[in-house]
Order: sequence, then structure tokens, then C-alpha cells
Amino acid sequence: MDLAVVVPKPDSEARIADLEAEGVYDDARKVREHDAEHVELPVTERPIETGFERVVEQENPELRAPGLDDLLRERGWREAERDRAPSSWAVVGTVILADFTDCPRPGKVGDALLDLHSEADTVLARGGIDGEHREPDVSVVAGEGDTETVHTEHGTKYALDLSRVMFAPGNKAERAHMGQITSEGERVLDMFAGIGYFALPMARTGASVTAVEKNPESFRYLAENAQLNGVSENLDCVLGDCRDVDSEADRVVMGYYDALGGGPVDEVETSEGGPGYLDAALDNLVSGGVLHVHSAVPEAELWERPESRLRAGCERAGRSVEIEARRRVKSHSAGVEHVVLDARIA
Ligand SMILES: C[S@@+](CC[C@H](N)C(=O)[O-])C[C@H]1O[C@@H](n2cnc3c(N)ncnc32)[C@H](O)[C@@H]1O
Repeated sequence: MDLAVVVPKPDSEARIADLEAEGVYDDARKVREHDAEHVELPVTERPIETGFERVVEQENPELRAPGLDDLLRERGWREAERDRAPSSWAVVGTVILADFTDCPRPGKVGDALLDLHSEADTVLARGGIDGEHREPDVSVVAGEGDTETVHTEHGTKYALDLSRVMFAPGNKAERAHMGQITSEGERVLDMFAGIGYFALPMARTGASVTAVEKNPESFRYLAENAQLNGVSENLDCVLGDCRDVDSEADRVVMGYYDALGGGPVDEVETSEGGPGYLDAALDNLVSGGVLHVHSAVPEAELWERPESRLRAGCERAGRSVEIEARRRVKSHSAGVEHVVLDARIA
């Protein structure tokens, strides 16, 4: 018999804790709505100590998919240990990426993650992402250790080796967005293309995209991904420094935190001219074109810091700016946000 107790919605969290303490909470089933004001909490037997309005018998209860915490508990892990296991992770193709800092027995947790995700065969511990070439620092925690994979997102295929090139799961919405706002025939310059994070969804719209990447390892995947997605005709992959490109674009993407000069949390204003990326972008962007500038900015300086840097650079180049959109992409690190400005440049 699948029993459940009916409780008022606002009390549900506290009652679940009481039922768990009493040892009668059935976490194999999902909590479900009873009526507009009440929920049904699944129980293994009628509670004695926990308050409720009435007991019901559920027909066709929905089973809850087990999570990592459930699996580790089944395997005898104590709560204090489970609390130090990763609370989130990303599945990129056949590879699971997670932060195992402070996690006890990472190999065992990796095995549990593989049991939860049958599509994956390798678990990687994610360290930082270093340097101008954005090379990842990862190590194999469980599984076959095959770090090369093909990740599919909104129909775009990304072949990559997660031990050699970065992949930011948190940029998913921005990748999709770039594919939505770009249209056929547009001329686009992606100055920091990587493996084609933004260039591929844009090229799949039929836009004519020039994608520049300076890291040969990333470039190799960029060229492979152009083929894999059937866009080699309209995606021109260039190995080199984006400051050396000479093109005419209706849209320029600067997907690099240092694009405006200064590191993610650097308090120092850009020196005159900065690294020259903005000047190069403006040289390639037609009057009336759109610039997408990514940066990592301390929360307290949103949106002033990226906007003032952009305005100063445009002023130096004799161009005018109209900010059309400001987007938060993800949290970069504690107190620092990854953001994008969309600016119309005349
Ligand atoms: C942050 S990664 C790409 C990020 C990607 N847009 C995303 O959202 O995940 C930036 C890329 O720019 C490349 N890069 C850095 N400096 C460059 C330069 N001067 N010219 C061309 N590519 C450059 C790096 O090698 C790296 O692959």
C-alpha cells in the first residue's frame, strides 16, 4: 500500500524533516500536489509522532529517480561525508565534470555518478582553467578515462577533448542565444572562437562566420566541428591572433574575459589601448554593427566597469556606442559575475 500524509504546502519542508526523523518518510516516491493548499508526503507507514491532516492511499505514485546522495547513503556513507560530495556536476557528451575539492573517496563518488548516468563513461575532477589559451586542469577520477567526446547541445555538435580544451557548461544559454539572434547572410567575426562555442550555432543559421582561434589544439577541434556540423562552407576557421584579422563584419563576438583589458577581478583601469582587442574589433565592425563583449566583473562594479571600458575604447576610436542589452551568463567565482554587453556601434 502506497500511503501518504496530507499536509499544508507551507509546512511541507518541516514535516518531511519530522517524518525522516521518525523514520517513516518514503523517499522512493515523489511528493505530489493534493489540492491547491496541500501536498501528499509519501510514508512507509502511518506516522505516530508527526502531525498531518489525514492519510491517503496513492494510486499510481510517481517514483523519484535516485540522486547521488541517495546512492551514497545506500552504499553506507554517513551524512557528514555525503555533504562533502559534489552537489552539482555537468555531463558533457560521455564525460562527467565535477569539482571534487574536499570530497572524500572521489573514486567511489565517481563510480556512483557513472551509475546515475549510463550515457557517461568517464568522470573528471575539474580544477581551474589557465592562461591565455584557456587550458583546463582536470584529472580522471573514475571510469575509462577517455576524455575525448562529442557533446550535443540544441542540435550543435561539439567534438572536444576535455583534458585539452575548456568547456563551460554554464554558458549553455548564451551559446543557444547566439544561434537565435544571428540570421542567414549576416557577416560575423568570432574573435576568440575556441572549439566553436558560439561560432557553430551562428554558422548553423546560415550566417557567414569568420572564427579566429590562436590555440592550435582548440583550432583543430574548431575545424573538425565545422565539418561535423556541415557548416564548412560558411564557417571560415582562422588559426592565429584575432588582432591580425582584416574583415568586414555586421556582428563581432568577443568571448574572452580579458577582451576589454584587465583580468577578471583586476581593479586597475585599462591602460590606453589595453591589449588592443577592442581596437581590432572596432576595425572589423561596420558602422551600425553589433558587438558582444564578455567580461568577468566583481558584483559591486556591475555594470559600470565593462561599460566605461567599452565607452572609453569607442571614444578613442571615434565610434559611438548604444548599449542594447546587458546579460548575466553565470557566476564566475565568489562575488564575480560573467556578463555580456550587446552594443550597437555607429
Ligand atoms: C574563453 S575561451 C572561449 C570561451 C568561449 N567563448 C566560451 O564561452 O566558452 C577563449 C579562447 O580565445 C582564445 N584566444 C585567446 N587570445 C586570443 C587571441 N589573441 N586571438 C585568438 N584567440 C585567442 C583562447 O585560446 C581560447 O580558446
